Amino acid sequence: MEQVKSVAVCFVCLGNICRSPTAEGVFRHVVKAAHLDGLIHIDSAGTAAYHSGEQADRRSAAFAARRGYELLSVARQFEPADFERFDYVLAMDSDNLLELMALKRRAKISTGHLGLFRAFDPSAPRDASVPDPYYGGDAGFEEVLSQCERACAGLIAHLRQQHALVADAFLVE
Ligand code: 4NP
Repeated sequence: MEQVKSVAVCFVCLGNICRSPTAEGVFRHVVKAAHLDGLIHIDSAGTAAYHSGEQADRRSAAFAARRGYELLSVARQFEPADFERFDYVLAMDSDNLLELMALKRRAKISTGHLGLFRAFDPSAPRDASVPDPYYGGDAGFEEVLSQCERACAGLIAHLRQQHALVADAFLVE
């Protein structure tokens, strides 16, 4: 049987403690449920280093847990070499996307997909961001989760289609 190549996805926000860990946790859950965890490598990072080494924000983790998601990431800053490690680098908002575009240009790397995460949600408006919930109330964290769920559903459908990913459970020797 033809070898199926794996795909690597990195979600990126500013601090890597709220939005991108949520996207990572939701996507890990969705990918595992689809038996594709052996084929899709998932990570997250921040464009800033303020929170490097920290676990996900307590509020993000608590709201995620209520929907059955575990946020296990440890914050780190995105680095130029990540553009070579990840096939998809998905920004949570346009500020972070612009920052990543500049970083990629400076690193002279032209391979891989760099774009907005919510572009994978067919119901989202054009150029939609996942708004930063850090300084807001509970509703912001719930909204981040709902936006991540919709975009993750679109993302896994896209990856299946574009990369001919077949669930481990259906692979026959
Ligand atoms: P995130 O949220 O980018 O979704 O992780 C933020 C976390 C911390 C800060 C800003 C945004 N901060 O300014 O410390």
